[in-house]
Amino acid sequence: MNRPIGVFDSGIGGLSVLRALQKELPNEAFVYLADNAHAPYGEKSEAFVSQRTLAIADYLLTHHHIKALVVACNTATAAAIHGLRALHPALPIVGVEPALKPALAISQTRRIGVMATRGTVGSEKFARLLASVQGQAEFVVKACNGLALAIEQSTLPDRVEVAQQDIAQLLKTYTEAMGRFGNQPGEIDTLVLGCTHYVFVESALQDLLGPQVQMVSTGEPVARQTRRLLEMADLLSQDGTSTKQSTRLLTTGDLESLQAAAQRWLGLPSQACQAATLYVHGDQQDQAQDKQQ
Ligand code: DGL
Repeated sequence: MNRPIGVFDSGIGGLSVLRALQKELPNEAFVYLADNAHAPYGEKSEAFVSQRTLAIADYLLTHHHIKALVVACNTATAAAIHGLRALHPALPIVGVEPALKPALAISQTRRIGVMATRGTVGSEKFARLLASVQGQAEFVVKACNGLALAIEQSTLPDRVEVAQQDIAQLLKTYTEAMGRFGNQPGEIDTLVLGCTHYVFVESALQDLLGPQVQMVSTGEPVARQTRRLLEMADLLSQDGTSTKQSTRLLTTGDLESLQAAAQRWLGLPSQACQAATLYVHGDQQDQAQDKQQ
């Protein structure tokens, strides 16, 4: 039997990673969990995000028998990847982190912008990552409160317009605060999208900052790393089931907005989406169930 690969995020941001996974691994089945009821993670405590991450991993293992897990969320990776690996040593686990090293490889001006959530930017893991590239370029790091939430809301049918205005305003405010963008000396020529949600506003950012600014995200490298881990564990699927037929999307929040996002960004039909309920008491997940719609 071909067991699915589990993928999760606080909400719809991880769909940008799922899209890359589907392309890289066309024969695999995926089950994606959007923890919309608790989004955004970026402005919650590390302990809370860690607790959700561990509960979601348990749920995907117990109820969906996943063979690997992709944490398609920078904030959850920063908060909980070490704990996850310690609890599930046999499970291939891939996390995401802001792509500082790939940005270093392409920046000419050596001035690199990084947009991420407050949780990611304030984490120890990010501090270590930043220290590991110290002296090789100047990194201008911005915690973008409210941006992931506005992107979430841009898929709610009755909020689209307001959310688009919020997104435009937030992008303007945050990028202006980072300084000048461009390819001249002293300008930021490379921008790291350090939150999986931000990939969905990449073209708005490109319009705002100009074509000479290069955007760096992590979907493709994460997908390649997932393939490598599956190969090493001899877990690659041997059958040829089409990805579109074998992708299931679950949400702990609003089903309609997940359906709208799945349709808009992955071309998936609404039947691919279901509501999921995870009951978490303290550190204990004591019950979980899917409600078929
Ligand atoms: N998409 C997530 C990330 O990559 C989290 C956004 C949020 O929930 O704040 O960090």
